[in-house]
Amino acid sequence: MKLNAFEFVAMNNPLRAAIQRRFEARRLMRMGGAMNGGRALEIGCGRGVGVEIILHQFRAQTVDAFDLDPRMVERAFSRLRNLKDRVNLWVGDATKIEASDATYDGVFDFGIIHHIPDWRAAVGEIFRVLKPGGRFYAEEVLRGFILHPLWRALLKHPQQDRYDHEEFKAALAQSGFTVLCDNQIWNSFGWYIADKRE
Ligand SMILES: C[S@@+](CC[C@H](N)C(=O)[O-])C[C@H]1O[C@@H](n2cnc3c(N)ncnc32)[C@H](O)[C@@H]1O
Repeated sequence: MKLNAFEFVAMNNPLRAAIQRRFEARRLMRMGGAMNGGRALEIGCGRGVGVEIILHQFRAQTVDAFDLDPRMVERAFSRLRNLKDRVNLWVGDATKIEASDATYDGVFDFGIIHHIPDWRAAVGEIFRVLKPGGRFYAEEVLRGFILHPLWRALLKHPQQDRYDHEEFKAALAQSGFTVLCDNQIWNSFGWYIADKRE
């Protein structure tokens, strides 16, 4: 599901980029470590700040990234034009990832799976495209936030079948992942490091 006008503005500004770099990415780094090479995928890349983080902070060699919203991919193209030898972008859907099985060493989710009605299909797709031994880095928004009356009024998210922290972890395990590390705050935001064991 694409963002409404309010969230589109909230996701496309320097404050959002600073929070993603200084708080979300650092937390995932402390939990799951750097990639130090290898091929990464970012689902729901927005305007491309996450791709820069994956290249420069997590030190992936290359990053593929896609977003459902062509306006976001256009912004990412423009932002990342000087990195085009290491970055490949397209418009796509996380429930049908356009990649062969076992393609990636790492997959990153900076807060997008909660936008997907059939979110379990996206988790299954991420497992499919990871190589055995690959790692999933996820920062997610939980039911406590999605169903809060204030955020329901301001934002547009699917409302049915939303997950809490334990349910998201259970879905990861059900898809075949081993959850190595996880934490959550206020039953609203969760962080997960999950491996596809060899
Ligand atoms: C909350 S924004 C996060 C954007 C970016 N990851 C960030 O952290 O700034 C969620 C993004 O997911 C995208 N999105 C929603 N459903 C999607 C899907 N099924 N497949 C891929 N991207 C999707 C939206 O277009 C939006 O750019």
